[in-house]
Amino acid sequence: MIEWDDKYSVGLSIIDDDHKKLIGILNKAIYAKEHNANSKELREVLKEITDYALKHFKTEETYMIDFNYTGYQDHRKEHRDFFTETIAYHDKLIEGDCQIANEIIEYLKWWLVNHIRVTDKKYVDCFKRNGLK
Ligand code: FEO
Repeated sequence: MIEWDDKYSVGLSIIDDDHKKLIGILNKAIYAKEHNANSKELREVLKEITDYALKHFKTEETYMIDFNYTGYQDHRKEHRDFFTETIAYHDKLIEGDCQIANEIIEYLKWWLVNHIRVTDKKYVDCFKRNGLK
């Protein structure tokens, strides 16, 4: 299981709270894999990931637009790539590939390191300058 750690913090409580939820969903995926979850159970985890992403990405992108964040387009592209990945996982699940839990877990771990700890941190100065705490 993955524990929340300050290294994941961007220093903005509304964003950190969302990212903590993602770690919770990642842990559900890990649990599902360890308990040999079936296709239906894995689809439920995938739906939770998609629902989370829709809401969280909208939150970030709304701030980016409101604050005229210059990195908005590049950031938005990474968010769209995330959806492309989750759709591909869903298609594999439909095809009966229940080993997909491994890929989902590895992708979410990659996302924590490469998106949350790198890309998300780039907007922090801009968001703080605009009064977000
Ligand atoms: Fe926290 Fe850009 O996702």
